[in-house]
Amino acid sequence: MAFPSTRLRRLRKNENIRKLVHSTALTTDDLLFPTFVKEGGGKSEIQSMPGQYCYPLRGLGEVVKRCEVAGIPGLLIFGLPEGKDEIGSEAFSEKGVVQKAVRMIRENSELAVFTDVCLCQYTSHGHCGVLDEKGINNEKTLEILGKIALSHAQAGADFVAPSSMMDGQVKVIRNVLDENGFNDVGIVSYSAKFASAFYSPFRDVVKSTPKKVRGLPYLPDRRTYQVDFRSRKQAMREISLDVQEGADIVMVKPALPYLDILHEAKQRFDVPIAAFQVSGEYAIVKLAAKQGFLNEKDALLETVTSIKRAGADFIITYAALDIARWLSEA
Ligand code: PBG
Ligand code: ZN
Repeated sequence: MAFPSTRLRRLRKNENIRKLVHSTALTTDDLLFPTFVKEGGGKSEIQSMPGQYCYPLRGLGEVVKRCEVAGIPGLLIFGLPEGKDEIGSEAFSEKGVVQKAVRMIRENSELAVFTDVCLCQYTSHGHCGVLDEKGINNEKTLEILGKIALSHAQAGADFVAPSSMMDGQVKVIRNVLDENGFNDVGIVSYSAKFASAFYSPFRDVVKSTPKKVRGLPYLPDRRTYQVDFRSRKQAMREISLDVQEGADIVMVKPALPYLDILHEAKQRFDVPIAAFQVSGEYAIVKLAAKQGFLNEKDALLETVTSIKRAGADFIITYAALDIARWLSEA
């Protein structure tokens, strides 16, 4: 054998050596926990996402406590409204479920509160924008997104997270927030949000699968606004525009099928990058584990660490609480 002997296995000799030389360490600081909130009823488990629940407002204390104990820095709130209409009015109501949830959390906790800003949970047709005879009306939707973001800021959100993929959404929201004295409220934009098959469990929970409504055009999917997964360059342009428009943090979503996008974004932009391990990504692991086909803990630690390694500064994952527990046991 030639001298010196190249033996990478010396770096893998035992767990203590491996700990010293690895380059990516996942910590609870890297995790944001997405949470579904509804008005009343009991805490209900989500069929397609084992281990995840919809929390009624009065059950929120439990989630807050669990995140605090686990050392998770914050929550991303999704609301399940009582009623839907063509323009998603409940999304910007002062008495909407998200607004109430944020007020409650703010009163009792220091956790960072992020809120999803979109229309799809609140519209009768399930789209992320307002419909007119020609399809999604970008400008009308922007007006509503501004109102939603403002109502979340008034409730006490730290960051608003526009996810509707309307052109100009960051700029409009930044302006509305600034005009109303909320220049301390940040924007994390779902910038590179792809039209993905991996959102299905989420849409099942919030009942936002696009559907036909009398008198309105029917668009069966979100491909006229979410990024085509065949296009890397559009994703980069989306991120670049959002940064120009004033996004404090940008997001890549889903995560695992888009690690290349995440990696490139990390090289090209100086803003923090978030990645969303979405409902379908979580469901795959959970359901396969349930069948005994893979180890849930190993698979989730591997995927979430890989997302960090690819360039995410933090990861939005339904597995946040489990991961926190596993990390504390290690
Ligand atoms: C709403 C929204 C979606 C998700 C986050 N915000 C669904 C969608 O665009 O249909 C997906 C989250 C997940 O799948 O976990 N715009
Ligand atoms: Zn939406």
